[in-house]
Formats: sequence, structure tokens, C-alpha cells
Amino acid sequence: MIARLSLFPAKTRVNERGHLVIGGCDAVALASEFGTPLYLFDEASLRSQCARFKTEFGQRYADTAVIYASKAFINKALAAIFNQEGLGLDVVSGGELGIAQSVGFPLARVYFHGNNKTAEELTQALEWGVGHIVVDNLGELRLLNEIAAKQGGKPDILLRISPGIDPHTHRYIATGVTDTKFGFPLADGGEAVAQAMSAPNLNLVGLHFHIGSLITEVKPYEQAIEVMLNFAAEMRLKYGFELSELNIGGGFAVSYTRDTPVPPVSAYAEAITSRVITGCREQGLALPRLIIEPGRAIVATAGVALYRVGAIKGIPGVRNYVAVDGGMGDNIRPALYGARYEAVVANKVWEKTTTKITIVGRFCESGDILIRDITLPQLTAGDIIAVPGSGAYCLPMASNYNASFRPAVVLVRVGNARLIRRRETLDDITRCDLV
Ligand code: LLP
Repeated sequence: MIARLSLFPAKTRVNERGHLVIGGCDAVALASEFGTPLYLFDEASLRSQCARFKTEFGQRYADTAVIYASKAFINKALAAIFNQEGLGLDVVSGGELGIAQSVGFPLARVYFHGNNKTAEELTQALEWGVGHIVVDNLGELRLLNEIAAKQGGKPDILLRISPGIDPHTHRYIATGVTDTKFGFPLADGGEAVAQAMSAPNLNLVGLHFHIGSLITEVKPYEQAIEVMLNFAAEMRLKYGFELSELNIGGGFAVSYTRDTPVPPVSAYAEAITSRVITGCREQGLALPRLIIEPGRAIVATAGVALYRVGAIKGIPGVRNYVAVDGGMGDNIRPALYGARYEAVVANKVWEKTTTKITIVGRFCESGDILIRDITLPQLTAGDIIAVPGSGAYCLPMASNYNASFRPAVVLVRVGNARLIRRRETLDDITRCDLV
């Protein structure tokens, strides 16, 4: 089980009681203190991933801005940390924007995305001075131009273009292919640039693409960059368009299991920055500001989910089921994408792994399987299961299915644990009901 510790935040260790220690805190003690399911975020890991992206890209391409994709998980405490680390934010809704605004995040460093932004959201964004709007379609271009005219501003915009590249990931999270709801198809990109440049109240500064998520190869990025730089050169020739910003989206992968190695950040940085530099040279383009939007790669490994074991059920010759007190309500990813995770028993880390089990949740669906077929020490009710890699796209996609209460979230740092989101209660989930 010790080898699995490589999937946890750096400096995760085991204490003399055989308990998992994350951010200097005994995970078993935290489970007792705050209850389960509990999501832990290791502050040092969050901060070091921010720094890693800034350094790895920045040392190869000085004019890089790292924008955290807040859909991977945001709340007030995290927004404040990303602000301190000097990152920008990618938001896709008035809600994400509102969280950023509520903690005084500098909104000039925000990029507002989305394939169907409402007039209210766009109006609010312009009122608050959001730095860039990433325009997805012609309807939005017209709408934004009208809103900007009313407000008397001239917001900076990027156009989201779909470069038609297959990123070799799960089809639900492949976004830069031709058949996608996101962005302008490449073939319509010229019309979009023409209209954006002639819109009197908009300032077109660049192009955006995001080819998908959990991309384990660098090649799709290189291909997409080449497509976009060719397109930019064509637009310069045709309309005098100047590419000041190239936003290449996110998608950088992390290892959820030990058998899925992924490129280090340095490999993505090397491939992406060198392709931008050579591509611009080939096309005679000035080097644009480079924007990257990592989400998962910043938060996934920093986050660990803790569950308590309850019912244990062996079906002879079939399967051993171990039920925990969370499941698809707090982590829909196994059910939705077939995502795989590993786990350790936080109170028995030294014990030999002897039994093949399937960890299931407490929700009323047979598909509520957290981890199928994992070998762990002999389990008994009350044991604490720790699932690494739970920091991205679990909590933000969590639901109140079965009127369950979404988990508490704790930030751990050098032996201190700070509650940054309390567990929901019955009052929370009935608050909006009217009788
Ligand atoms: N930029 C844009 C425009 C995006 O749409 C996304 C993710 C990102 C950046 C960040 O991608 P990341 O670095 O996190 O891969 N729920 C799915 C992932 C959905 C990703 C949506 N867009 C999952 O659980 O795997």
C-alpha cells in the first residue's frame, strides 16, 4: 500500500500509529474531528503546483500568464490562495465570477468563458471590469457588442476557435474536435474575426482554443498550435488582425493510478512553448502573450477524499462489496467517465493488502461504484479509506442526490487544519423549498 503514497500530496507520510499523515495532519484524527466524507486539500501542494506552472512555462516563454480553470474546484479560500500565487482565473458562469469577486480577486485577471453566457452574466462581467471575455459564437459577439455600447466600454475579447484536433481522451471531455458545441468551427473563424474587428465596441486581442481535458500526450497541443498560428497568419493577411494573445486552454493530465504515467509539466511546457516560438517564426508573427488554463493539474493531487467504511458484504464467488459513506454524490467521475482511482486505508497504512474488494457508495444506484477491484488490508466497519487525486472535478460536480449533504472541506498545512467549507445540513438542502 506504501507505493500508493506516490499518488498523494508530496510529504504525505505514515506516523508511528500506522496512520496516514497529510499536510502534517493525521488523516484519521481529521476524519473524527470533522466527520466523513471529508475532502482535504494540502495547501503546500496547491501552491507548489501554481509555482510549477509559472516557472516551467515562464522560464521558456517569459510572457506567459497562468489562469486557473476554476471549474476544477473553487471556493472562497482557494480563490484567495490563487490570488496570492498571482494566477488569473478562468470562470464559466456568474457563480464562479461571483466567488472571485466576493474575495476581491482582481477581476482584470479573469477570463470569462462559456458557450451560452446570459445577457445578465455579460452585463455583470463588464460592470465589474472582467479582463477578457472569450466569445464563443456570433450571437454572443452581437450581444456583447450591444451591452458594451450601452455601458460605454470596449472590452478585450478573444475568439474561441475549435481547431479540429482529436486529443485522445474520453469523448465527453474532448472539446477541440470539429463536432463540438464549443467555439467557432475553424471554417467559420474568418467570419468571426471579420465581425469582431468591425464591432465598434469590442477590442479583439487574440484567439483561444481548448482541445480537451486529461490529455496525456503533447502532440495534440502541437498540432492545435500549428493550426491556430496558420489561421492567425491568414487573418493578418486578410484583415490585418494582430494576434496579441494566444490562449491554449488547459487539459494537462495527472496520474490517478500508478499505471497511468503522464508527462511532467516541464514536458508540456517544452512542447507548447517551442511550438509557439517556431510557429510564429515560420509565419512571421510577433510572439503573442501565451495564456494557459490548467484546472485539474493544479488541484487534483492536492485533494484527498476520506470516507468511513460501513456495510461489508461478501457474495461468495462473486464479489466483496465494501460500502463507504460517500460515493457518486461527491464523486461522479467513476460513474460518468469510468474514471479509476486508488486508495489506502488511512488507519492501516502499514498492513498487508490481502483482500480484493469493490468500494461502493451509499447512493441508490448500482453504478455507484467508487473503485472496482482494489486490493486492501482486511477491512472492518469504521476504517477510513483515503482516495488520492480527489481534488479536481469531484466537489464542483457533487450533488444532493438522495438528499445527501455535500461534504466538508479542510485545508491542511504544517499540522494545522482549517475548515474552508462546512458540511451541509438539512437546513441547507431545504432552504429553497417553498410550501
Ligand atoms: N479551459 C477551458 C476552456 C476548459 O473548458 C477547461 C475544462 C479547462 C480550461 C481546464 O481543463 P483541465 O486543465 O482541468 O483539464 N469534468 C471533467 C473535466 C471537464 C473539463 C471541462 N473544461 C472531468 O471530471 O474529468
